Amino acid sequence: MKKFCQNIFLAALLALLLGACSNAKEEIRQVHSPDGKIKVAVFLDKGALSYSASKENVEIISLSKLGFKFKDGTVLGDKMKVVKTETRTFNETWEQPWGEKRLIENRFEELTLFLKEKTGLKRELNMVFRVYNDGLGFRYLIPQQAKLDSFVIMDELTEFSLPAADKAWWIPAYKEFYYESITRYTSIKDMDTVCTPLTIETQSGKYLAIHEANLTNYAAMNLYCSSGTTLKCDLTPWSTGEKVFAKTPFQSPWRTVIIADKPGDLITSYLELNLNDPCKIEDTSWIKPGRYIGIWWAIHMEKYTWPMGPKHGATTENTIRYIDFASKHGFSGVLVEGWNYEWNCDWTTKLDNFSFTKPYPDFDIEKITSYAKTKGVRLIGHHETGGSTINYEKQMEDGFKMYERLGVNCVKTGYVGQFLDRKERHSSQYGVLHYSKVMETAAKYHIMIDNHEPVMPTGLCRTYPNFMTGEGVRGQEYNAWSADGGNRTDHTTIIPFTRGLAGPMDYTPGIFNFSNPVKPNTRVKTTLAHQLALYVVLYSPLQMACDLPENYEGNPALKFIETVPVSWDVTKVVDSKIGDYIVTARKDRDSDRWFLGGITDENAREINIDLSFLDPDLRYNAIIYKDGPNANWETNPTDFSIEKREERTANQLALKLAPGGGVAISFTPNIIK
Ligand code: NOJ
Repeated sequence: MKKFCQNIFLAALLALLLGACSNAKEEIRQVHSPDGKIKVAVFLDKGALSYSASKENVEIISLSKLGFKFKDGTVLGDKMKVVKTETRTFNETWEQPWGEKRLIENRFEELTLFLKEKTGLKRELNMVFRVYNDGLGFRYLIPQQAKLDSFVIMDELTEFSLPAADKAWWIPAYKEFYYESITRYTSIKDMDTVCTPLTIETQSGKYLAIHEANLTNYAAMNLYCSSGTTLKCDLTPWSTGEKVFAKTPFQSPWRTVIIADKPGDLITSYLELNLNDPCKIEDTSWIKPGRYIGIWWAIHMEKYTWPMGPKHGATTENTIRYIDFASKHGFSGVLVEGWNYEWNCDWTTKLDNFSFTKPYPDFDIEKITSYAKTKGVRLIGHHETGGSTINYEKQMEDGFKMYERLGVNCVKTGYVGQFLDRKERHSSQYGVLHYSKVMETAAKYHIMIDNHEPVMPTGLCRTYPNFMTGEGVRGQEYNAWSADGGNRTDHTTIIPFTRGLAGPMDYTPGIFNFSNPVKPNTRVKTTLAHQLALYVVLYSPLQMACDLPENYEGNPALKFIETVPVSWDVTKVVDSKIGDYIVTARKDRDSDRWFLGGITDENAREINIDLSFLDPDLRYNAIIYKDGPNANWETNPTDFSIEKREERTANQLALKLAPGGGVAISFTPNIIK
């Protein structure tokens, strides 16, 4: 009895203590996703702002801090009181000019908190939370106010506190450049400071992707795991150490968390796009996704050179040969690199050499562009800056103007160099401002942008759909020259779930010739069928066939590249396991055709594809490009076969993928049932 009383006393004490704690941490408001499954709660703990999130009562993000540290030593967000709150329900469907899906549902519940400091300067801060069925976003708004005009952010205090030591796929933020790293897969506790999107597999069986949306005048967000399992925001600094120079009225980019039950749902989430502003370009009819070839891979394979000389790739004659090939095989563009002065300078010491208007004398740009016009093909321009944005910004308008006059409507930009203008990081506010300027200026001249060495995309292509695609990924080029032997076989089974969540990727698939005479130990570690499948698995509205015309000519596999669309009505991830395999099906935006791409890592795999995505009222002629019986990325990458058969929705398709292999299928409707 005595013991019983003692227990009751202890329990009462515990309840009292817990009560005291929760009193200190006052929950201000909750907001739920439209389907009611995801809940975000916002708290004030003695004035300090924090939030948490759960899905179906499973904790996804535990109590996590919010706020800023300014250069004047003050913190905004630690002594707040609520002035008022507002809620809003939003539901619209908008149409993309191009993309992985035509119609996007934008449906969320929104909570805005109007906050004010309780003491001191009594500065105001507003927080907006949007909760979708597939995740959440929140952003900071600092309104115009007498006590706060210009300010400098030294630290954004945002946290994403995970309930457990989950595992994540990540790339380091500052050690390797341009996001061109091999992905690591470790416990979050063993991570470096990492770039976003950060893809996480939780112990509760969910998949999360933490990233940001609408980054236009701020530093890119990186993350590191601090004490316990809390991920903290780390903004890329200026060379002088500050993170962001800002002025009220101010809005931060959105901090975004996609919450998925299975990996494929990360890919079919459109949260990033939804958290950007609607299209600002009135007439988008000049924005045309397409397939392209280029004087490019042959340069990386050292057959040609960028600078003018005996092996110069960008000659008039060679370009015309590429244009003829493009025209014959239905490619809309020909990229030409090394066309302009001055490639043979030392980029590290002479940063302002590139001319964006002066072609080498053996590249007759007027003749080339007018010839291309007669062939229904366009030159794709190239602006390699060598990392000098100062030199580029001086010439950018003239460069775009010249291209527009010549009928060039697409430019690939490049920023090779460890830093921009010798000192600023690509992902700093300095870089972000430059990339935004290029995107907006290009739109003025009706130019589409393919941004290499970018800052990580954040869905801005919704607002500026001329911002087509970009790098920011360890692309195919590493398979030409990388000292580590090239991309790992599992690389392409990971990047759709990591970098791919940020936006279109110019990975440049399409290798048919796997030998590398210059660097025999470096090579493409997939089969040919895997290369074809990448046209469906990796999304880009500008999709390159990167191999040489002479390697394509006469190969029946080219037919798949000639017919695969670059803009889709619907996308479905049929089956996947990050790092092992992925099978993606997409319906053409302009017809009833479906296309499927399936790829595996270094392991051979039997896959059973459920064709229930096909229209039940139709039968389809399927053309299956698959690994041959002896295919193997290492010993026989080009062994493939083409099979034709009739398929319908009720069918299952059993296929064998070789080590590093893949399958690419087109389904064309034939007769109505
Ligand atoms: C790096 C880019 O990724 C590549 O595509 C380009 O060929 C070179 N820079 C030269 O601009």
